[in-house]
Amino acid sequence: MTIHIGAEPEQIAQTVLLPGDPYRAKWAAETFLSDVECINQVRGMLGFTGTWNGHRVTIQGSGMGMPSLSIYVNELITSYDAQTLIRIGSCGGMQDKVKVRDVVIAQAASSISTPSRGIFRELNFAPCADYGLLRAAADAATSRGTPTHVGNIYSADVFYDERPDLNEQMVRHGILGVEMEAAELYNLAARHGRKALAVLTVSDHLLTHESLPSEDREKTFGDMVEIALEAAFA
Ligand code: ADE
Repeated sequence: MTIHIGAEPEQIAQTVLLPGDPYRAKWAAETFLSDVECINQVRGMLGFTGTWNGHRVTIQGSGMGMPSLSIYVNELITSYDAQTLIRIGSCGGMQDKVKVRDVVIAQAASSISTPSRGIFRELNFAPCADYGLLRAAADAATSRGTPTHVGNIYSADVFYDERPDLNEQMVRHGILGVEMEAAELYNLAARHGRKALAVLTVSDHLLTHESLPSEDREKTFGDMVEIALEAAFA
């Protein structure tokens, strides 16, 4: 057990899916896994382990923002030996071609700062996805026919951004979407020699100001979970 995860080591699989929302972890585990066991309830940050097509998988909530994700991912890697970590979450679309409900697979994640800034200092480290996972997820999305974009995203420190000028530069530089966790997931995976990916559903749009109606969310988020599972075990 760790400070934030109340599971025994053998209760956590080597492949971990990481939604920000603990209730989405519960929904995804109950919807896609069999033989599901709740393995964490500390601070309500629910985690579940089960099997998918005969493979053991843990789905653990990471919370919102990089400092929160950093706690769970550090503990999953250093105390539970997680090898493959895939964020499943939502993002705000930042290009006209990226529509609400589309899937975004994050090849790289830009940021203003991350919890790893103290290590990198003047270095602008480029946090990037594991190529094998990235390719497998893109292939899975193509064979499912899910509208999907692969490219650079922005991991923000704040949801309520007061810098429209920065968003303009992001759009200009082809950033597909904004979320708040992937850059630090990729930093930690690089540091510890693990595989990481972020598969995201566009839940709102910074240019059109649309947002996904709640009744549509399950089906769209389901595509993302299945793409992540197929990529993990390709
Ligand atoms: N996650 C989903 N939509 C987002 C947005 N607009 N900004 C930051 N994180 C998000």
